[in-house]
Amino acid sequence: MKTTAIVLAAGQGVRMKSNLPKVLHAVAGQPMILHALEAARQATSEKPVVVIGNGASQVQQVIADSATCVLQEQQLGTGHAVRQAQGLLAGKTDLLLVTYADMPLLRPETLKKLVRTQKANSGPISMLTVVSADTRGFGRVLRNAEGSVQAIVEEAVASRRELAISELNVGAYCFKADWLWHTLAGIKVSPRGEYYLTDLVQAATSTGLRVAALVLDNLVETIGVNNRQQMAEAESAMRWRINQAHMLNGVTLIDPASSYIDLGVHIGADTVIWPNTYLQSGSTIGRSCSIGPNTIIRSSRVGDGCRVLASVLEGARLEDDVDVGPFARLRRGAHLGKGVHIGNFGEVKDSTLGAGTKMGHFSYIGDATIGSNVNIGAGTITCNFDGEQKHATQIGDEAFIGSDSMLVAPVKIGKRARTGAGAVVTKDVPPDTLAVGMPARAIRKLEKKNVKAK
Ligand code: UD1
Ligand code: CA
Repeated sequence: MKTTAIVLAAGQGVRMKSNLPKVLHAVAGQPMILHALEAARQATSEKPVVVIGNGASQVQQVIADSATCVLQEQQLGTGHAVRQAQGLLAGKTDLLLVTYADMPLLRPETLKKLVRTQKANSGPISMLTVVSADTRGFGRVLRNAEGSVQAIVEEAVASRRELAISELNVGAYCFKADWLWHTLAGIKVSPRGEYYLTDLVQAATSTGLRVAALVLDNLVETIGVNNRQQMAEAESAMRWRINQAHMLNGVTLIDPASSYIDLGVHIGADTVIWPNTYLQSGSTIGRSCSIGPNTIIRSSRVGDGCRVLASVLEGARLEDDVDVGPFARLRRGAHLGKGVHIGNFGEVKDSTLGAGTKMGHFSYIGDATIGSNVNIGAGTITCNFDGEQKHATQIGDEAFIGSDSMLVAPVKIGKRARTGAGAVVTKDVPPDTLAVGMPARAIRKLEKKNVKAK
């Protein structure tokens, strides 16, 4: 049976009071729409369709190829939104799973169950409900004396008696597609000027057709985001869920409440995450690492057995057994080989440091290629920018860069060469040579015993 998802994302999100379209606000590091889209995709067999409107081009950019977008030019309600997909989908699918982009916590498993419920339903609709005293503006579910679902009444138009009902419409439905297209055309505009998708329930029951309800017992999944308070609620619920999964996979979180791990971050077993640590989108952490406290890692790859203490990594790559911090900053294009040590106040950008290289204190390395087992003395700086252009620095294996060396790029330091403390290096230093002074000049050829990296 072909099942296609329609995710509604055209609404204005007025209650967010934001310039950014509501569905692009991030939860656990990812725009809300992507959470909803991924869950819907997993529960269906075809490419999902997203109805966009408010901020359409921005939203479309975020969705990219993961769904087909259709435009709802005027936001005339959820029923009207679904109709925008009719041209694209009529006759192409058996079932339609309709969800809202502002429900980021609905799990794929729940939506799959909803689809299964509809496959077993003789009637045209299966819907999700939840029972809660905290009604949060949700539509109320009306049942008849036999207990079957009869209608959904929107809060805006509900009577006092209806408002007292505690069974709520979660906002996820699975429809028989042909029935939906046919019936949607007959939905009347509400007193509030909107076409409510929820009116379909009564349209079905009034013609004697059965509406199945799947009652969720997990309230967390039903957190919808209409304002920023609810967004904070969704954020903390999502983080909790993510953290639980990592712990079950063998990751130690010393304090889950202060471990901020984005969706999609992979962490190997036996890694320990210390408090106040942020592992953000696009990051992978290996096994048996110690990360944090007070660390931010974004778009970075960290190998096995690494230690990162109180540092910031963005777009960096660490091979195994790398030791970083406290107070280091590894920026885009920093690639640290196996066993590299970066101590306090080190900054690395667009540079490769070979295996076993050590940079203990107060250094800036930018646009450099550094060999293995190099010792970079305290305060070393690659002067990579001449005010107009960036230039490269190369340092050969086992070189020893004296404290406070200024390497004025473009410049090459040969293998096993040394620079004296405070050297301002403006010319290439040949291998096995000691250079000192300002500007540094080669003063003698080195004997072998002097040149070992520490
Ligand atoms: C909706 C339901 C309500 C349910 C609640 C649960 C309707 C009429 N009401 O109310 O029964 O309890 O969700 O979350 O469906 N959208 C469009 N085009 C529009 C209007 C809305 O695409 O013209 C999209 C929005 O972007 C949003 C979703 O549909 O993602 C839901 O709209 P929203 O205004 O948030 O509906 P609720 O008032 O929350
Ligand atoms: Ca909503």
